[in-house]
Amino acid sequence: MGSGPRASKRVSRIGKSAIHEMTRLSREVEDVAFLSWAKPTSGTPEHINAGAIEAIRGGLCGGYSGNAGLPELRQEICRKLKRDNGIDANPSEILVTVGAIEGLSAAVMALIDPGDEVILPSPTYSTHVRQVVIASGKPVFAATIEEDGFALDIDAIRAAITPKTRAILYCSPSNPSGTAFSEQQLRELAGVALEHNLAVITDEAYEYFTFDGHEHFSIGSIPEMRGRVISCYTFTKTYAMTGWRIGYLHADEELIPQITKAHIPFAICAPVVSQYAALAALKGPQECVAEFREHYRSMRDLMCKRLDGLPDVFQYAKPSGSYLMFPRILLDEGQDSAAFCKKLLREARVSTTPGSAFGPTGEGHLRLSFCVTEEEIDKAFDRMERYFG
Ligand SMILES: Cc1ncc(COP(=O)(O)O)c(C=O)c1O
Repeated sequence: MGSGPRASKRVSRIGKSAIHEMTRLSREVEDVAFLSWAKPTSGTPEHINAGAIEAIRGGLCGGYSGNAGLPELRQEICRKLKRDNGIDANPSEILVTVGAIEGLSAAVMALIDPGDEVILPSPTYSTHVRQVVIASGKPVFAATIEEDGFALDIDAIRAAITPKTRAILYCSPSNPSGTAFSEQQLRELAGVALEHNLAVITDEAYEYFTFDGHEHFSIGSIPEMRGRVISCYTFTKTYAMTGWRIGYLHADEELIPQITKAHIPFAICAPVVSQYAALAALKGPQECVAEFREHYRSMRDLMCKRLDGLPDVFQYAKPSGSYLMFPRILLDEGQDSAAFCKKLLREARVSTTPGSAFGPTGEGHLRLSFCVTEEEIDKAFDRMERYFG
């Protein structure tokens, strides 16, 4: 290394992302079967593209919007929150963000002082851990109950609370386990937050993708939790809008200006063209969401069937939501999940993500993504059958 400035300790502490590492390695393998990326495979629906094009042609996209986002978009978001999440919101409680990710980062920044602890039910989405670390907070992991389909362990969460605990941050449906936490469990979690005066930050990116009668529940809809919850949402998954980088959060009116102070230095405002696309998404036909959900459900069923057809390599809980699952590797060599995934990539040409990327209880697992085509799942599992068979 030269004698240039060193990186901050805050950033240097963050390890390389196993997800990006696997993506990089996968590119080196010819004709790889790809089960490692959590991004929708479908294109953005045409009426949403058309909304953006119309806004561009109308000369609406060349400037910034207000920091909180376009008023008409925030209005439409309030309608959606009332209809689908049971959250009674007004536009002054909404911040439009650069995907859910920037909203979550801004929320963590606004709540966490250096040394504050944030409890993360684990396994958890690796980006949440990094968001806490970048805010100089301390991530504290509370294991979920794997035998119960990675359900929340309320006792483990209680046991993780210290005087420094400031917030609980979770995603439901979960990346990586695919678990939609039940309403009853989330009500219990709310009770814990109230009892200990904690904030709750939610990542509800997969809110529309639940299966088999499991209903998505927003903890922000509980009246007693008002002022305590920052609920983060995105257009990325619901409308296959990954690249548009557009999401939003709901929080108490008094907290929004504080979160906005964290949002401005990173974003100023969310991309305006994407805000118009988001408006078209909310106002337009919603059939695409049901179609995506049905596709993911059927891909989940296919993946579970193909897993059942393998010899004793994996043990899994059938996911109730998202488009991800998190089987345990039964083979001895699976205890180092990163090594296992690299071997599977090199020798079977199947790309997966090592469980170690998702917190301490992730080791010994791998994450499989079923937001792919039937052909991709069959290709991957035909190869694994030959490899393990
Ligand atoms: C749980 C979760 N939250 C957020 C995101 C990304 O959301 P966005 O594109 O809205 O920033 C992902 C993407 O994989 C995710 O899995």
